[in-house]
Amino acid sequence: MVNIFESSKRQGNIIRNEDVLNYEYVPKILPFREGQVQEIAESIKPMLEERKGTNLFIFGAPGIGKTASIRWVLRELDEHTDEIIPLYVNCWNLKTKYFIFMEMANKLKISFITGKSAEHVLQQLVYRLKDKKIVFVFDEVDKAEDSDFLYQIIESFPKSTILLASNARDYTVNMDPRIKSRIMIRSLEFKPYTISEINKILFERVKLALKSDVLDPSLIKQISNVTYNKGDIRVGLFILREAAKSAESKSKKKIEEGDVLAILRELENATTTLADEEKLTKDESMILDVIKEFGNDVAGAIYEHYTKKGGLLSYRSFKRYIERLVNLGILKSESTSAGFRGQSSRISIA
Ligand SMILES: Nc1ncnc2c1ncn2[C@@H]1O[C@H](COP(=O)(O)OP(=O)(O)OP(=O)(O)O)[C@@H](O)[C@H]1O
Ligand SMILES: [Mg+2]
Repeated sequence: MVNIFESSKRQGNIIRNEDVLNYEYVPKILPFREGQVQEIAESIKPMLEERKGTNLFIFGAPGIGKTASIRWVLRELDEHTDEIIPLYVNCWNLKTKYFIFMEMANKLKISFITGKSAEHVLQQLVYRLKDKKIVFVFDEVDKAEDSDFLYQIIESFPKSTILLASNARDYTVNMDPRIKSRIMIRSLEFKPYTISEINKILFERVKLALKSDVLDPSLIKQISNVTYNKGDIRVGLFILREAAKSAESKSKKKIEEGDVLAILRELENATTTLADEEKLTKDESMILDVIKEFGNDVAGAIYEHYTKKGGLLSYRSFKRYIERLVNLGILKSESTSAGFRGQSSRISIA
């Protein structure tokens, strides 16, 4: 019998380079973001002449090139000079300042025995980075549970430039006044792409990712329409990758409409969006698993199952997680009739 992994070797007719369709891939050119890329670069440039950069707050909807534009600029910066150190941190899974500082230390290859305090880790960062020019990026900054880390970064690295990115337009409005008065931040908005921009972006990715003439422009257009409706370029990349893989596994010479439609159907039936799924934390996944296993119930009962499975969140944090999943449209919360402990809510998968 043929070994099951034998067929994973790529020798198909469709895919040239699958990596190009990964969400993390940053293409050599980023069409339609030239202006924003320029602004980000301009905010850093003064540092090359011993002047202070401009702190920037970058905001806009999911999947419209914020992270890609930042990474693009950092890559150029890295190729241009060793004088400025870029330090990129995504705050999504890093709730407290301890985890944020640890992530920064890891990126700088500073190692610790665990159990040190946030302040201790920060001290090491200051020591390692003293006299250096640094561009800090805190992506998805609104996901950090408290913004105290930002205050400490500003205080500890007065000569650095800080880039913040978020979906939450009002993040800076609600900022701690201590931080607001020190950070002097300018805003840079990313607007959603038009349908023809999406079409061109996907078209360029197809040229890099797939072999020539394996996907008709009319199908790319169809994929662009769906992507436009969801607003997130990741949707288009996902459909392209899955349709290409499916056609290739069937040893087809071209991607056919049926391959694309099958993926679209799958997407329609999915309960979560791609961006959400990619970003669910370990605890959120655990909560979903518990509800799938034990069925719908009130939060307190779900919490009991969750802790029995080893979940470590406090009940308060747990409730916050539930709230987030409800906001994302992944869970549903319905009030039950008032029981002996008063009104409570029944949680189910949406
Ligand atoms: N102009 C563009 N050209 C090519 N690819 C793009 C462009 N804009 C976005 N992409 C691609 O779309 C995907 C999503 O973009 P990105 O990660 O930058 O989104 P984002 O705005 O940071 O979203 P989120 O708020 O969810 O983090 C990435 O794979 C990125 O490479
Ligand atoms: Mg992003």
